[in-house]
Amino acid sequence: MSDMGAKPDLRASHLAARAALEPSARAAAGRSLRDHLLSAPEIEMAGTIAAYASVGGEPDTRGLLFALWKRGAYVLLPLLLPDGDLDWASYEGPDSLAPGPRGTLEPTEPPRGPGAVASADVVLTPAVAVDRSGTRLGRGGGSYDRALARVGPAILTVALLYDGELVDRLPAEPHDRRVRAAVTPSEGLVRFP
Ligand SMILES: Nc1ncnc2c1ncn2[C@@H]1O[C@H](COP(=O)(O)OP(=O)(O)OP(=O)(O)O)[C@@H](O)[C@H]1O
Ligand SMILES: [Mg+2]
Repeated sequence: MSDMGAKPDLRASHLAARAALEPSARAAAGRSLRDHLLSAPEIEMAGTIAAYASVGGEPDTRGLLFALWKRGAYVLLPLLLPDGDLDWASYEGPDSLAPGPRGTLEPTEPPRGPGAVASADVVLTPAVAVDRSGTRLGRGGGSYDRALARVGPAILTVALLYDGELVDRLPAEPHDRRVRAAVTPSEGLVRFP
């Protein structure tokens, strides 16, 4: 029981640090993560990539989405369902995004169903923090725990982080799904054992 409240407290402190960042820092982190990811072999080879449109204090993913799409990858983006699960629809350029629920930015193309994430060759996830065993702390909806449960064991799953958010240890609950890698501006793509 000593972990009771640990996740909400950690989430709040990481989100407070993000809230203090200038827009220029979000943009710079986004450019760095974009460059690291675009040069990863799995992403260079991927036909379909599940990604997400950043909002709030997240590292900016708009340039990454645009670059993946221009390169010819099929990019899937999530839509938040009322029960917290994620549906998926294709990104067709910057004009194919519109405001969604709870401050999200969502694709305007037809939804393909929650199972569509299983067709991705690489899955990029948001996270508030990740530890070096791949345990992931998200915003607290369990959305990515559900989505990652549908992704096969050979698929690279990568959380996008700022420096300081890849930590030694996070609390994990039985429903938490690990990511197989994280990317930070300073460390680049870090694959977990
Ligand atoms: N497969 C699931 N089906 C239904 N609810 C789930 C599932 N997985 C997790 N949840 C619920 O989601 C809630 C939040 O979980 P958790 O604190 O792990 O969120 P998170 O991983 O930080 O969020 P997210 O995955 O949305 O970024 C928990 O109450 C949990 O029971
Ligand atoms: Mg979780």
